[in-house]
Amino acid sequence: MPGACEGSLACSTCHVIVTDMEYYNKLEDPTDEENDMLDLAFGLTETSRLGCQVIAKPELNGMRIALPAATRNFAVDGYVPKPH
Ligand code: FES
Repeated sequence: MPGACEGSLACSTCHVIVTDMEYYNKLEDPTDEENDMLDLAFGLTETSRLGCQVIAKPELNGMRIALPAATRNFAVDGYVPKPH
């Protein structure tokens, strides 16, 4: 799984899908900044999170996640920003 922005909430390449609602509900709520980046994620689901924002803790032991079928990574997808 790429983490193009290294956890600075500037991409959605670390998008993961928590497969079990019980574990999803144990996570801290996403911040507005995380939700903004999740809105850009490919294949967003109700249990999507940015992996870099999930803090590991003992209660999450056994949590399973799935990776989306694709990610949007402008750094490697050939995106060239246009001047304004
Ligand atoms: S690595 Fe960019 S938001 Fe997680």
